[in-house]
Amino acid sequence: MEERKISRAVISRLPRYYRYLGDLMEDQVERISSNDLSKKMHVTASQIRQDLNNFGGFGQQGYGYNVKYLYTEIGKILGLDRSHNFIIIGAGNLGQALANYASFEKGGFILKGLFDVNPRLEGVAIRGIPVRMMDELQEFLQNNEIEIAALTIPKSKAKEVAELLVDNGIQAIWNFAHTDLNLPKDVIVESVHLSDSLMKLSYNVSRHREEQNK
Ligand code: NAI
Repeated sequence: MEERKISRAVISRLPRYYRYLGDLMEDQVERISSNDLSKKMHVTASQIRQDLNNFGGFGQQGYGYNVKYLYTEIGKILGLDRSHNFIIIGAGNLGQALANYASFEKGGFILKGLFDVNPRLEGVAIRGIPVRMMDELQEFLQNNEIEIAALTIPKSKAKEVAELLVDNGIQAIWNFAHTDLNLPKDVIVESVHLSDSLMKLSYNVSRHREEQNK
């Protein structure tokens, strides 16, 4: 496929296309028109065409999109055609919930380790993976090829732990601690705030109520 610069806005929509196309594949759907995909995804057909035309050559007039091809190509763009080893730092409520979510593996994200400072958690196994203490982290990173670290620790500890991770070769941080991390430019940080989607929901609920009360 021809390499092109794809805008961040399009990239941010790709995981959703990927999910829908994955569902279509599970339902044995081989091809789909932009109109049908539009109805399923509640996105305009023209937006779909515009987004997917970025990659060129996927859709054909009167034929629609080849679901498997599109799924594979979007997967490649998202780097999902290979696996990514990750660890979780902070084996509390959120860390354990993430560790328990086996479906990450289906997407190629392989949980290799869990770390914490609480000695009561030492050796507790989540899906067969034991919680290790932070003093084992350095050696663990030397002996395992870990690409991503999820940070599910208190915000007050996030900066020092993130720096420790970067000093030990971690290049990508999935940051759940509600704080901005100022790390070297070549470190990739993806911050997650579940409360953002709750706030959007709250906004929509409020608008909906206003409409009903008119
Ligand atoms: P928790 O208290 O259950 O777990 C935190 C764990 O981090 C504990 O096991 C603790 O021993 C460990 N920890 C503390 N300092 C550490 C260090 N220096 N190194 C390694 N482990 C350390 O808390 P919970 O509920 O799991 O939340 C974890 C973090 O995630 C908090 O910062 C919370 O605000 C955040 N959070 C973020 C969400 C989001 O949408 N981004 C949603 C929910 C929680």
